[in-house]
Amino acid sequence: MKIKLVSVILLVVYLTIFISCSSDEEETMEESLAEAPSAATWLVIQDQILSPKCVSCHQNGASEATQSGLILTPDVAYSQLINRIPKNATARSDSLILVGTNGPKSLAKSFLWEKINAPNEDHFYQDHPSYGSIMPPRPLTPLTYGELEFIRKWIIEGAPKTTVVADLKLLENTERYQSQPAFIPPPPPKDGKQLHVKQFEIQPDSEREFFYYQPLENPEPIYINQVEISMRPGSHHFLIYGFQANVPIPQPQVYRELRDKNGSYILTTIQSMRFHTFVAGTQWPKMNYKFPAGIALRIPANSGFDLNSHYVNRTKSKILGEVYANLYYADPKQVEHMAEVITFTNLDIRLPPNRITTLHKTFNFREKVHIFQLFSHAHELNTEFRVEINGGKRNGEEIYFSNDWEHPPILELDPPLVLDAGQGVKLIATYNNTRNREVNFGFLSTDEMMILFGLYYTN
Ligand code: HEC
Repeated sequence: MKIKLVSVILLVVYLTIFISCSSDEEETMEESLAEAPSAATWLVIQDQILSPKCVSCHQNGASEATQSGLILTPDVAYSQLINRIPKNATARSDSLILVGTNGPKSLAKSFLWEKINAPNEDHFYQDHPSYGSIMPPRPLTPLTYGELEFIRKWIIEGAPKTTVVADLKLLENTERYQSQPAFIPPPPPKDGKQLHVKQFEIQPDSEREFFYYQPLENPEPIYINQVEISMRPGSHHFLIYGFQANVPIPQPQVYRELRDKNGSYILTTIQSMRFHTFVAGTQWPKMNYKFPAGIALRIPANSGFDLNSHYVNRTKSKILGEVYANLYYADPKQVEHMAEVITFTNLDIRLPPNRITTLHKTFNFREKVHIFQLFSHAHELNTEFRVEINGGKRNGEEIYFSNDWEHPPILELDPPLVLDAGQGVKLIATYNNTRNREVNFGFLSTDEMMILFGLYYTN
């Protein structure tokens, strides 16, 4: 009985799894008396760009703010940016600062500029795979050419707080950079493997989600330390899963649909999901994720990956999907730490009908751990999923928040979160059971789940 329970737990655990002129100077006395004096350039940046386009994520309490260490609300944004060292470790070691006050020199060393300069995205993603995403991240639209020029001018002029250094007229250019509509497949890695989900169609006004198994053809174990994904536009999410040892493996290169034409789940597909182990994933059309230095995920010999693509087509004509995933292999001699997978699962789920219920469960580590990636998994009744540190000096500190059960954010922690033996994480999940029956743990979409997935290494 016990053994059975353990294997059920294992199944459960692996079940499923992202210029210019100063307008002031040109004004005559009369004009400036007639009109309100021009607002300081910084204030315009705050009010017209940062507040509407960045603060939704970069505000106190948002998990993205924790992840990026950056708050852009009007009370603190200026001091958060000026002469501040980035949280991104690679940007830091490239000695960038968010915004410096040395004019043009500072522009070249500005991480803010690097992050928002969408027209330069090819350079950004290819030369700096560890710099994260262009801001605001996809699918949000990049800043306009006018906004970019306005900010560029401000930095070149020394990023002052109270003076006018950029012409408001710049903002009238509301055109935006558009990524090349022609989708260019990335060249395969020199040392690694390129996985390819060949072109497929998504019918007008519909969604398509499937799995696609690709053998790695690796006679020896391999170590992966970087994953680069690029897709044709329209992707909702893309995930890469491995399989546990000694489980049935699906046929290679077959599109295994998740739902049939009527929207019902296809059971054979659901069954194959029970044996998954999470490897990597993204909700953005372009991702280049590098494990922290010296860390890699070990993949046993003769493995393969199940590629999970979900496209949404809201247009009136059919669109094409296509995915490339480049897996970079690490030199085993350079691997100091093996990545381990977190699958913290609360099986004790009892949600009374027509009620909001919050469940808590704490998981502690037996040894010191360095956590570098986390994301939650639950089903459609879940309204909020929080994770707090348990124990130690930071006891009670919230480190993860999701209110999107379908596409929870994938939190990357760089530097990793270090927890000592005996410390751990507390999962706090809230469910709104709008049904007339009790809902429990289970595999169907109408059952519920409470899982925290993640990656860590030990000393
Ligand atoms: C949808 C959420 C979201 C929005 C909107 C957003 N950001 Fe971000 N931002 C993030 C996340 C998540 C990170 C950390 C991961 C990364 O760097 O890609 C981040 C990181 C950053 C960083 C790097 C901070 C550091 O020190 O490493 C900067 C700078 C930044 N954002 C600026 C902006 C600006 C400016 C805007 C608006 C134009 C913006 N962001 C809009 C989510 C967001």
